[in-house]
Amino acid sequence: MIASSDYPLSDVQIYLQPSAKEMREMDFLCFTSPWNEQDYREMQKQPAYNNWLLEIPDVGTVGMLAFQSVPPELEILRLGVHPDWRKRGLAEFMLEQLEILAKSDRIESLWLEVHRANKSAITLYSKLAYKETGSRKNYFRNPLGDALLLKKLLKHDA
Ligand SMILES: CC(C)(COP(=O)(O)OP(=O)(O)OC[C@H]1O[C@@H](n2cnc3c(N)ncnc32)[C@H](O)[C@@H]1OP(=O)(O)O)[C@@H](O)C(=O)NCCC(=O)NCCS
Repeated sequence: MIASSDYPLSDVQIYLQPSAKEMREMDFLCFTSPWNEQDYREMQKQPAYNNWLLEIPDVGTVGMLAFQSVPPELEILRLGVHPDWRKRGLAEFMLEQLEILAKSDRIESLWLEVHRANKSAITLYSKLAYKETGSRKNYFRNPLGDALLLKKLLKHDA
């Protein structure tokens, strides 16, 4: 077993065209309420939808991101890091890469819904300057709880 600390961030690669099956496999490892393969198949038919996997050569898939982009807004739908690879900056890296893409695609804001009890995700988004803009009572079912709406306005060069 290779320790995760052996890998610098520069070795990480983004895989831009994963299959629904590959997305589902990673989703299942990351989330308590996973999307199934059919969910991903349906989403991948939508023109606004996009998904990535994060890979480390000789190790495998360590993260995932799913989003839909309807300029001027982009919604983050799924962000997950393999449990063995958390707290190493991988989610932050994916969100930074997403911002670079978004800025080149006329996106002015990124937003998402997150479970109020998901402290690690809320701390992550807060670190990256996402702000709470609202909430939805009992929006999530598994586990039951409120959704916080978080949003980040992107700064574009003049
Ligand atoms: C939330 C999640 C994506 C974070 O991934 P990660 O790769 O471990 O996060 P990073 O290492 O990039 O962390 C970046 C920052 O996020 C915050 N953070 C991440 N995990 C945290 C934790 N367990 N507790 C507190 N803060 C945390 C910290 O501010 C951290 O910065 P720091 O290292 O300077 O303290 C990961 O825990 C995960 O996959 N969770 C399950 C799926 C999920 O809940 N997704 C979010 C749905 S919106």
